[in-house]
Amino acid sequence: MLSNEQIVEDVLEYWWEKGEDVKAVILVGGEGTRLRPLTFNTPKSMVPILNRPFLEHMIEYLKGHAINDIILALCYRPDHIQRYFGDGSKFGVKLTYVVEDPPLGTAGAVKNLEEHLDETFFVFNGDIFTDLDLTAMMKFHRGEGSKVSIALTPVEDPTTYGVVETNAEGKVKRFIEKPSPDAATTNMINAGAYIVEPDVLSHIPKGLNFTFERGLFPLLLERGVPVYGYQSDAYWIDIGTPESYLKLHHDLLMGRVAKGFPGERAGEGIWVEEGCDIHPQAELKGPIIIGRNCVIGSRAQVKGPSVIGQGCRIGKGCLIDEAIVWQNTCLGQGVSLRRCVVAENVFIGDRSRVMEGCVLGDNVVVGPDEKLTRGTKL
Ligand code: GDD
Ligand code: MG
Repeated sequence: MLSNEQIVEDVLEYWWEKGEDVKAVILVGGEGTRLRPLTFNTPKSMVPILNRPFLEHMIEYLKGHAINDIILALCYRPDHIQRYFGDGSKFGVKLTYVVEDPPLGTAGAVKNLEEHLDETFFVFNGDIFTDLDLTAMMKFHRGEGSKVSIALTPVEDPTTYGVVETNAEGKVKRFIEKPSPDAATTNMINAGAYIVEPDVLSHIPKGLNFTFERGLFPLLLERGVPVYGYQSDAYWIDIGTPESYLKLHHDLLMGRVAKGFPGERAGEGIWVEEGCDIHPQAELKGPIIIGRNCVIGSRAQVKGPSVIGQGCRIGKGCLIDEAIVWQNTCLGQGVSLRRCVVAENVFIGDRSRVMEGCVLGDNVVVGPDEKLTRGTKL
């Protein structure tokens, strides 16, 4: 496997050869309805993954592929994102923000920032986590003389995605967004990462709500414009549902994707950030990440894969088993959390139990001795 430095070198050499400064557009305008209640206050692209906003991981990934010029197409709660990332310099990239009101759809959003795009560019859905090799994809795109290349990934149930039918050379024959089970002829789906030639933008109407999936792709195919699907065995997930949000954490913590963890290593698979007060009789079993300034009481058990956000207080005898807890949440004594997500500033009273699949939004208060049954959303 190539080291990260080698990948960057390889990419830089490739871009330099082409004399390009490749830009990426990230679509972050969606409301994230399927992730509710987690997205009531937090845009989907800002939900924490390993205690850092999702988008920060995405920016780091693009930077790792020598893509430093990133345009964010925003709509829902833009200030949240702009406040955190500023001009991008703190993260080593240049960020440009373009805000839509009302939403223009995935392709309309890109048309809306056309003035920034005069070379071949990337577009990413703002909710996908992948280690896709972008240089290899660019080589494929050039090699085929493609106008739009769509990264493809196999999934078990393609009906909640965009299904992409290709021929043996990878040329796209049909694109069907969210097909019914009998219309899904392949399990290869649109991974939400595209390489686009700027002249393709002339096919998108200005100022109208228009999507890649139901509008542009079918239109390009009808007009005979060459669209290709790029298959790879990269890691890929869309974090759009609580189940996939948990799965991504699970995969990252279990080491299925190469990723550094924040904090100091305090034991086998245990990462603790500064300022924590962990009782010597607390039991920690990795892989876990504990954010800054957390307090963990005696006989509390934290079992991985789990993440605890900064400033949390975990009372005596609590059990946290495969759970994701956001910042400033407080658990009384003897509380148990199992395979669930608890957002920020939540308070859970003594001895309450939160079962598998529960999702608790920001500021929720649960009294003592409650039992939240499987799948409860508050
Ligand atoms: N700026 C902007 N404006 N962004 C938008 C808009 C809009 O009007 N609508 C959606 N987005 C952003 C969302 O924030 C998200 O990052 C991305 O576009 C895709 O929208 P989703 O709502 O997450 O779509 P999906 O997951 O149902 O389906 C899409 O992704 C699948 C892969 O995860 C489609 O592209 C499918 O074809 C694909 O398979
Ligand atoms: Mg999505």
